[in-house]
Amino acid sequence: MKSFEAYVVRETEDRKYIGSVEKRTLEDLPEGDVLVEVKYAGLNYKDALSAHGNKGVTRKFPHTPGIDASGVIVKSSDANLPEGMEVIVTSYDLGMNTSGAFGQYISVPSSWVVPLPAGLTLKESMILGTGGLTAALCIDALLKNGQTPEDGPIVVTGSTGGVGSMAVAIASKLGFEVIASTGKTASHDFLKSIGASKVMDRAELKELPAKPLLKPMWAGAVDTCGGQTLEALLKTAKYGGSVACCGLVDDASLNMTVFPFILRGVSLLGVDSAECPVGHRKEIWKHLATDWKPGMLEEAATIISMEQLPEYLEKILKGENVGRAVLAY
Ligand SMILES: NC(=O)c1ccc[n+]([C@@H]2O[C@H](COP(=O)([O-])OP(=O)(O)OC[C@H]3O[C@@H](n4cnc5c(N)ncnc54)[C@H](OP(=O)(O)O)[C@@H]3O)[C@@H](O)[C@H]2O)c1
Repeated sequence: MKSFEAYVVRETEDRKYIGSVEKRTLEDLPEGDVLVEVKYAGLNYKDALSAHGNKGVTRKFPHTPGIDASGVIVKSSDANLPEGMEVIVTSYDLGMNTSGAFGQYISVPSSWVVPLPAGLTLKESMILGTGGLTAALCIDALLKNGQTPEDGPIVVTGSTGGVGSMAVAIASKLGFEVIASTGKTASHDFLKSIGASKVMDRAELKELPAKPLLKPMWAGAVDTCGGQTLEALLKTAKYGGSVACCGLVDDASLNMTVFPFILRGVSLLGVDSAECPVGHRKEIWKHLATDWKPGMLEEAATIISMEQLPEYLEKILKGENVGRAVLAY
């Protein structure tokens, strides 16, 4: 039986979670319609949670995390997904409770598989990954709610992170003036290089007065933080503005009045990429491969080896990540 390398996280008796590179065989993988040889895997916040034993993400250990894979089909029972096809597999249960992309092979249902669209390489698809897909879904939500670049600037929070950096890049490609909110003073040049017009300290949003409504400052936002940051963005959005909410790196709560919604017609748009239907997913990947494709993908990426996974997963958990980290096999 063919063996391959995988990063396996094990739970110790005193409930510590230790990851190391191990040999596994194809028999260790779950039954699936499609067997994919993974060429690249993107790193995400959810992977860091899984690798550190978060039971809300991964119930059972030992486990191989990795919610983002691109690679080549080596075995398939689906005629529409033949052997040799280059594909993207992201989210659903991959890397959560299904053995994930931090192993050289994954076995998945065909409904999770998206053929690599023309215009993207396997590597580029993982520089984008779930971060890029989620960022694009946020921008798509703003556009579908009627937001245009002419309405004014948009704020992106957690802007040096995987979702944030991709949101900055995609929005600026589409002609939006982007204000990047960050906690990292050393990353201002990076943010400008990927398309931010201005950079603000993330503390500014949290320091705004606790009033029900504040002076309108921007047309919309992509928020990865939640909590006080999301509250501030809703209270400072201009009349008819839209705020796409996709994350909770700061806080999962939202404590505010309804005034921005009923007095300024502000919209709060929820975004989920994990269960995003495959039709919408393919449409967004097509945009990412063509008219929304950021020009600076390589600049936003750090390519790492399996041995570097613990270091980069730790960085993500501490909020120290910049851009997209991608594991190359
Ligand atoms: N809805 C979905 O489908 C979906 C998909 C993917 C991710 N997400 C969520 O989106 C969020 C970001 O994910 P990611 O993969 O981009 O993570 P990431 O790469 O680790 O980036 C998160 C960024 O948030 C900022 N940050 C960290 N701690 C913070 C704090 N306490 N307060 C404010 N900002 C803080 C940092 O950027 P700065 O230093 O630049 O501020 C950090 O780089 C997570 O909550 C994740 O669960 C949701």
